[in-house]
Amino acid sequence: MPPLPSVSTEVRLASRPDGTLSPSQFRLARVALPACGENQVLVRNQSMAVSAVMRELMDDVDYLPFPAFQVDQPLWGPAIGTVVAGEADGIAPGDLVTHRLGWRDYALLGAAEVDKVQPDALPEPHYHLSNGPTAWLGMAHVAKVRAGDVVFVSGAAGAVGSLAGQIATLLGAARVIGSAGSKAKVDYLVRELGYDAAFDYHDGPVLDHLRALAPDGISVFFDLVGGEQFEAAVQTARPQARFAVAGGLATQLGDALRGRPRLDVMTAIAKDLLIRPFALTYGRQAFREWPERFGQWLREGRIVYPSTVIDGGIEQAPQALIDLVAGRHRGNVTVTLS
Ligand SMILES: NC(=O)c1ccc[n+]([C@@H]2O[C@H](COP(=O)([O-])OP(=O)(O)OC[C@H]3O[C@@H](n4cnc5c(N)ncnc54)[C@H](OP(=O)(O)O)[C@@H]3O)[C@@H](O)[C@H]2O)c1
Repeated sequence: MPPLPSVSTEVRLASRPDGTLSPSQFRLARVALPACGENQVLVRNQSMAVSAVMRELMDDVDYLPFPAFQVDQPLWGPAIGTVVAGEADGIAPGDLVTHRLGWRDYALLGAAEVDKVQPDALPEPHYHLSNGPTAWLGMAHVAKVRAGDVVFVSGAAGAVGSLAGQIATLLGAARVIGSAGSKAKVDYLVRELGYDAAFDYHDGPVLDHLRALAPDGISVFFDLVGGEQFEAAVQTARPQARFAVAGGLATQLGDALRGRPRLDVMTAIAKDLLIRPFALTYGRQAFREWPERFGQWLREGRIVYPSTVIDGGIEQAPQALIDLVAGRHRGNVTVTLS
C-alpha cells in the first residue's frame, strides 16, 4: 500500500445559497490527515456521490432525518473507498467499504459507520453508490408493483427515477411512463431505459400528457417531484391506485411555492387512493436486498446502470452538484476521487 500523505483535502460549506448555487458557496480546505483511534479506520475515498438532497442540506433545514450541512464544516454524503489504516470490528486495511463521509479524500470512521462490500459484487465501486435502494424500496415494497400495472415515474431521468422505471418493468408492469425536463432526456428514457412513453414536463400541462399516455389511468405513481406532477397523478389515478412518494424535486431545486403539491382530498377519498410517503432511513431492508438483486440483473443484462462519472478529483465535486441542480446530468452522479 502506498505511503499516506500528511494532509487531506475536503470541501466545506462557505456560505448558504441565496437561491442560485455558485462555486463561491463551497471552499476547499487542506487538513492534517486524521490519526486512527481505537476501533477506527482511515478510508481513502475512491468515489463519492452527489445528489439532489445535498442542495436542500445546504439550507438550514431541520425536518430531514439527517443533519443539514454547517457553514465552515465539511459536507458529507455517500462514498466508497479502501481502508488504509486502523482496525475496527474485523474491518482492516485493504477492505472496500461504503460510508457517509464523502466530500473529502480521506475519512476517519468508527466500526458502526462503515459497511464492508464485496469488491466483485458489482462491476465497479461507484455502482455501490447508486440510488437503487430507494427505487427498489418504493417499487417493490411501497407501491408493490405487480403484473399489469400502469406506472408513472416523475423525475424519471435522475438517480432514483432512471432505476425506478426499469425496476417497475422487471416487476411486471404493463406500461411505464416517465417525465423529465428536456426532449433529450425524454428520448433517453424511451430509447435507452425501456420506458414505454415519456414527456417533457415543461411542454404543456402535465395532466394533458398523462391523459394522452395513460387513457385508462395509472395504477401506480412513483413521485420524485411533487407539485403539478403529483396533482395530475391524483386526477388520472385509477380507483385504489398506489402512490409511493419519495421526493420533491420541484420544491428542492425549483420554485418552492409552485412545487408544493396540494392534495385534492375528495378525489383521493372517492378513488380510495393509497398515498404513502416513505423514507429510506426507515426501510433498511432495501440496503440488504438491492446489491444482490442489482448484481444479478446486471449479469443477466436485464438492467442498465445510468450514471454520470466525473473524473478529476475532489476539486470537481462542487461543480458536479451545481450541474446536477441545473439538470445537466443523468442518472446517478459520482465524482472519482482516487
Ligand atoms: N424518500 C427517500 O428516502 C429518498 C431517497 C433518495 C432520494 N430521495 C428524493 O428523491 C428525489 C430524487 O432524488 P435523485 O437523487 O434521484 O435526484 P435527481 O433526479 O438525480 O435530481 C436531479 C434532477 O432533478 C431535476 N430537476 C431539477 N429541477 C427540477 C424541478 N424544478 N422540477 C422537477 N425536476 C427538477 C433535473 O432533471 P430534469 O432535467 O428531468 O428536470 C435534474 O437532473 C429527491 O427529491 C430526493 O430528495 C428520497
